[in-house]
Amino acid sequence: MSRAPDRRLAPSILSADFASLAADVAKVERYSRLLHVDVMDGHFVPNITIGPPVVAALRRVTALPLDCHLMIEAPDRYLRDFAEAGAAFLSVHQEACPHLHRTVQSIRELGMRPGVALNPATPVETLEPVLGDVDFVLIMSVNPGFGGQKFIPSALGKIRRLRALIDERGLQTAIEVDGGVGPSTLPDLIEAGADWLVAGSAIFHAPDPERAARALEEQLHG
Ligand code: DX5
Ligand code: ZN
Repeated sequence: MSRAPDRRLAPSILSADFASLAADVAKVERYSRLLHVDVMDGHFVPNITIGPPVVAALRRVTALPLDCHLMIEAPDRYLRDFAEAGAAFLSVHQEACPHLHRTVQSIRELGMRPGVALNPATPVETLEPVLGDVDFVLIMSVNPGFGGQKFIPSALGKIRRLRALIDERGLQTAIEVDGGVGPSTLPDLIEAGADWLVAGSAIFHAPDPERAARALEEQLHG
């Protein structure tokens, strides 16, 4: 089945300067379709980052849809807070949600687009029952918790299998990939069937983040 590609660059602010977030976002805004916001709780992942107040602050400085990636235990407690803060897309981890279908429904009822994220060791087949209920699946291509890690190549096989599952059923579910995305990994990711590409250190640790975002965006649509 053929589908129109919907490729989006999603810079991750995890690698931006937290003291100058608005300025860093402004550098990449025109080359981006989403702004990826990594929320970590020190329990589900070993790191602690930011929460709804920072999402609300970002909402005031950019028109980009905020794509919030919750790497937290029991995310149901915070769904409403993220909706009120202005999240447009919200992903929860399969590994953190014993009642995943209910969580996905709650996200949608709160007016956000639901997504489910999968750790590198979690097979894509676990999502088959909810594939038609989510707007996107986020394939982690590093172990979640930190920016700047090395890409795990087995993510490519998972993306191919997920692409096949989605296309066989004629679904519109997007495939987002997060971790180690940059100029050298992007071509294989596109070939495997990825739609939305999250990039943190490849953009914000580059000498010129604007130039890095533009180059990735050109590669995405090249
Ligand atoms: C990691 C986060 C990623 C992170 C990616 O747990 O989910 O979004 O920012 O960073 P890079 O692109 O540097 O691998
Ligand atoms: Zn992320």
